[in-house]
Amino acid sequence: MGFSIPRGVSVLESSGDLARHGADFFVKTAKNSVQRKGMFFVALSGGSTPRAMHRLLTQEPRRSNIPWDQTHVFWVDERCVPASDPASNFGAATRDFVDQAPIPPNQVHPMPGEMEPEAGALKYQDDLVHSFQLGEGMLPVFDLIFLGIGTDGHTASLFPGHRALKEGKRMVLAVKGGNPDVNRLTLTLPVINNAREIVFLASGKEKAPVVKAVLNETDETLPALRVKPHKGRLSWLMDKDAASEL
Ligand code: 6PG
Repeated sequence: MGFSIPRGVSVLESSGDLARHGADFFVKTAKNSVQRKGMFFVALSGGSTPRAMHRLLTQEPRRSNIPWDQTHVFWVDERCVPASDPASNFGAATRDFVDQAPIPPNQVHPMPGEMEPEAGALKYQDDLVHSFQLGEGMLPVFDLIFLGIGTDGHTASLFPGHRALKEGKRMVLAVKGGNPDVNRLTLTLPVINNAREIVFLASGKEKAPVVKAVLNETDETLPALRVKPHKGRLSWLMDKDAASEL
C-alpha cells in the first residue's frame, strides 16, 4: 500500500488492532487527565465502530488501569429512543461496558433519548453546565472525544447540509437524520472543537473514500471536515481497509 500517511493518522493492521489501540488511548488519556486535574471527561460516539473498543475497557489489563472513580462518561450523540431500543447508543454501551465498569453511576451521563427531543437537548445542556461547572457563555472542555464517520462524511449526528453545522452557541441540538433516520441529540461543533483530544475511529473499506476526502480536504461540505480543534489535538485511528485509498 504505497500511500503517505498524513500527520496524526495511525493505520492499524485490523479492526481488532484498532479497538486495542483506541482502548489504550482511552487509558493513557484518562491517566494523564487525572494526574493533571484529578478528573477525566470523555464523550463517546455510537455506531458499530467503537463497540469493540468499548468492550475492552472493562477487561484486564485496561479495566484496572482506568481511574473510574475520577471518570465521567458522556455521549457525542444519541438516537431519541429508549435505552432498551436496539438503536440506542447508550443501550449498546451499557451492554458493552457500562454495566461492567466500576464507575460511580452518577458519573455516567447518557443523553435523555427517551425525552421529547428539544427538551432532551436542553436537559443535556444543563447536565454539561452542571458537570463542567460552566459559567455564562462558557463551553465544556472534554479531555477526549471519540468520533465516528459516516460514508456521507457525517460525524456525531451532524449531517451534510444540516443547519446544526452552523450552530455557534448551543452545546446540544435536536436534529433528525442518519441511518436510522430518526430524531437525535448531538453535541455541536463548538463543543467538539473545544476538546483537548479528538480521535476519529474509522474501520472498513466502505469508509476509505470518505476518509480520503476528509484528510485531503477535497469536499468542504463534509461535516467531519469541520472538526478542527481550537487548541486541542486531532488524531485518526483507522484500519488498513479504511486507509486503503490514502
Ligand atoms: C451514530 C453515531 C454516528 C457514527 C457514524 C459511523 O449515532 O450514528 O454517533 O455518528 O459514529 O455513523 O457509524 P459506524 O461506526 O456504525 O460506521
